[in-house]
Amino acid sequence: MLYRDSATKAQKLYYEMILKSGFPVKGLKPEDLEVVDFGLSQGELDSFKIVGLGIYVLVNAAECGKILCFLPNQYMPEHRHQSVIVMPKGSEFRKGFLDLKKIVKDFRGLEEYGEDAVYLVPESEKIPAPKEGILIPGKQEYFHTIKGAGSMFVPGEPTANPTYKIPKDQRPYTTAQHEVFLEPGVGFHLADNTPHSVVAGPEGLVVLEFSLTSRDPLDIFTNPNIDRITRIEERPK
Ligand SMILES: [Fe+2]
Repeated sequence: MLYRDSATKAQKLYYEMILKSGFPVKGLKPEDLEVVDFGLSQGELDSFKIVGLGIYVLVNAAECGKILCFLPNQYMPEHRHQSVIVMPKGSEFRKGFLDLKKIVKDFRGLEEYGEDAVYLVPESEKIPAPKEGILIPGKQEYFHTIKGAGSMFVPGEPTANPTYKIPKDQRPYTTAQHEVFLEPGVGFHLADNTPHSVVAGPEGLVVLEFSLTSRDPLDIFTNPNIDRITRIEERPK
């Protein structure tokens, strides 16, 4: 939950970053920016500055393009985009599949299929989808930095001394610790089902993201306390 005044301030900060990046977005307004607190901010901008993300969606159809903005030293927690199979309401759970509602906090279904559908995640990508299911392929992403710098963490040999450090209380939830350094002009492709997290450098970070269709509620976070959907609330008087 993020208080509205904190969200408004964060939108302004991200808006300034996009302007400074030089990437043109005609008619861009601060309120067009999505702020994501991952359910960890307790309302406040100070904690949001440590873990949070700003997003401007350029397009989200079969193809998706976003501008991702990170404030100085801000961290986007580790998550992955796995294939999901949507089964008709009342379908039985079956061996080899996990119930997405049990691994994603507050998952309330996708708008297009509803809350009553059964959402399955295969334990291995080799397990074929049941015939009556609709397969949503795991999202592949490509990050291309346009301003600032950051450290992305992906599976592989852990980097002993990464350029930028993950906030201490988030480290227990970061399993992939191989650093990929993000800097302007450099891109990185992420396969589906790959755990990844990003921490920005001291000047913040602006990244273009290209991917398959984005369905945020399907993101699987390593930290089970994370809620991907940011709830904006009025600050009590
Ligand atoms: Fe991602």
